[in-house]
Amino acid sequence: DLKDGFVNTLTAWYEHHKRDLPWRHTRNPYLIWLSEVILQQTRVAQGRPYYERFVAAYPTVQSMSDADERDLLRLWQGLGYYSRARNMHRTAQYVAGPLAGKFPETYQELLKLPGVGTYTAAAIASFSFNEKAAVVDGNVYRVLARVFGVEADITTTLAKKTFAKLADQLIQLSDNPATYNQAIMEFGAIQCTPVSPDCLICPLQQRCQAYLTGRQRELPVKSRK
Ligand code: ADE
Repeated sequence: DLKDGFVNTLTAWYEHHKRDLPWRHTRNPYLIWLSEVILQQTRVAQGRPYYERFVAAYPTVQSMSDADERDLLRLWQGLGYYSRARNMHRTAQYVAGPLAGKFPETYQELLKLPGVGTYTAAAIASFSFNEKAAVVDGNVYRVLARVFGVEADITTTLAKKTFAKLADQLIQLSDNPATYNQAIMEFGAIQCTPVSPDCLICPLQQRCQAYLTGRQRELPVKSRK
């Protein structure tokens, strides 16, 4: 049906169109976590060289834990929001210390890490451990709102619940949740873009509510508060 078709089409699209990015070659939860911390509120093109420098400087969670915070902040320079770098250091120290260097391996356990919210927990649980935990970010809201014609205002708590529930139903249908999660984010980033998406070459065109009703520009609904 519609949901199965969505999951399968998106996954097939991804295999052909995915960008070759360094964090897509690892299942190491420390490296996945590091990439997601850097990519929060940072574009891929900007974040990538930072990721590469951090991996070179701190290849393990233990090495990051042992780092002098001033060195960490120096390497972070240019990414902004220095509290993110400090939280990153704190989390590394927590994993290296109380957790004896072992990253938690489930969504529920990952959520308990300082500074790890639902998005990052789902990213690590799925990319590293192939758990069926759906990532939900701005790209995912846009893709789901358009394809499934969800009109709810994404700034509301109720809408966030609606999207989270739909995202969960979809990932349950996937045989490879790691790939599916990467696929929906990549699709939002390079095909189903915010402004003038190229619907004429979209593999979901004939199952997209927004396209079929000419509402690509109206969805997702986001009130300006
Ligand atoms: N943005 C946030 N996480 C990402 C990822 N894993 N790949 C590409 N872009 C991202």
